[in-house]
Formats: sequence, C-alpha cells, structure tokens
Amino acid sequence: MSQVEDCIKVISKSVKGFTPQVGLILGSGLGQFCEHVEVVASIEFDELPGFPVAGVGGHEGKLLLGQVSGTDIAILQGRAHYYEQGKADTMAVAIQTLNAMGCQSLVITNAAGSLNSEATPGSVMLITDHINMTGVSPLFSAESNQRFVDMSEAYSHELNDAMRSAAKANDINLHEGTYAWMSGPQFETPAEIRALETLGADAVGMSTVPEVILARHQGLSLCAISVITNYAAGMSETALSHEQTISFASQAADTVECLLIAYLKGQ
Ligand code: HPA
Repeated sequence: MSQVEDCIKVISKSVKGFTPQVGLILGSGLGQFCEHVEVVASIEFDELPGFPVAGVGGHEGKLLLGQVSGTDIAILQGRAHYYEQGKADTMAVAIQTLNAMGCQSLVITNAAGSLNSEATPGSVMLITDHINMTGVSPLFSAESNQRFVDMSEAYSHELNDAMRSAAKANDINLHEGTYAWMSGPQFETPAEIRALETLGADAVGMSTVPEVILARHQGLSLCAISVITNYAAGMSETALSHEQTISFASQAADTVECLLIAYLKGQ
C-alpha cells in the first residue's frame, strides 16, 4: 500500500466522510490562524507516514481538518523545507494526501524577504509567478510523462482574482509579484539579491516553489501569499535572522487571517 493510502486510512480513523474543498499550507509564524478553525480533527504529522518532520521554530507539524467561513479545509500547520535534508520532495506525500482527500485547490503561505522598497516588512504579497533558483525539482524521481508539468499558469488567475477581491473588501494593500526560491538555510548576500532583482524577482524565500510544482503535478489549482518579514539582504541596516522572520510574520498574522477568512468565504 502506498504512503498516501496509509495516510488516508489514518485520517479516516479520526474523521469519516470529511472532504475538504481547500488545502492550506501555513508558513512560519502564521499558526494563530488555526484559532479560527472549527476543528473536526487534528492529527500529528508523525502519525502520517511520509509527512514531514517539522523541525523549524514557528512550525508545528499538524494536519488540522475543519471549517473556516463555511468552507471545509485541510490545513498543514507547518512544513518541511528543502534545506532541512536536501530533499526537494519532502512535501510530496503531504500534498498528494490533500489531493487524495478531495481538495480542489490549495493556498500556500510563506514568509519572504522583499526586493521591492514599497512592500514593507509586515505587508503581504500575492505571488503571481516564481523563479526556481535552486536547480532542483521535487519531481526528479517521478516517472511517468506526467512529470513534464506545464508551469505557464502555475498560479491560478481565477484564485488570484478571488484573493484580490478578498483584499479589496477588507482594505488590505495586497502587493503582487514574482517569488524567487533560494535553497537556504543561509540568507542571501547583497550581490545575490541584486542578481535576483535583475532577474525580475520581487520577493525571496526558501519554500513554496517545490510545493507549487508538486501541487501542479497533482492537478491542484493554487494561489500563494508571501508575508513580507524583512527587506532582502543589502536593502536595510537590520541584520537578518530567523527570529526577525517569526516576529514580523506574527505581526502580519492579523492581516493574513483577515485575508484568508474573506477568501475562504468565496470558496
Ligand atoms: N530570504 C530568504 N528567505 C526568507 C527571507 C529572506 O530575506 N525572509 C524570510 N524568509
């Protein structure tokens, strides 16, 4: 039996007949969104074979099932990153399980550095496209021709529009732009940031892109939000640190919550 089938078995022991419409991956410092969930089941990642072992501060490691704004939702509270073990497919089973549970779409959130001086720390950005700077793919070991995924509209225009409407209805200034995936775990050098700027990046981070590739491989529609936690390296005097990431993500958490609650009403 596959790991995904095993996960579905574990989940159905906790809750029967629950089909989430939307999957949500919560990034660093955004865990408090879970307070808005009418929880139906909460399952630790380590009970789910193949799910990541969430190791980074600010990440919990739980699959939460429930309702937000009347929408049935499956939340990955925490994620694993490529930099943890050098495995780009570390989120494969988790995303395949969301798909197998019946999710129609996925919302991905992350913390990111801003290359755009107008997108200040504490603001939010809709990711409209990405640049994979790592040279790796979570599909390296995938076999069928399905692995040749079309990435030309990876971020759904329809879901992006829904997110824009949710922002507008709540007076949230939603920036938009291209996210560059760097492997981390070290932050970038100022020269790397200048290079990324030349390439057209608006934000930089260490997650999300492999999840987007995996989700598109599964045929899931998606949209993604970056919480801007800092100006990218070389753009400000402040030293970069994970503590700063968590602290600014928590400060922006109210905005993200408001955005997601409004977005989920329409799903
Ligand atoms: N670079 C990479 N990842 C990040 C950053 C950054 O500046 N901020 C939050 N995650």
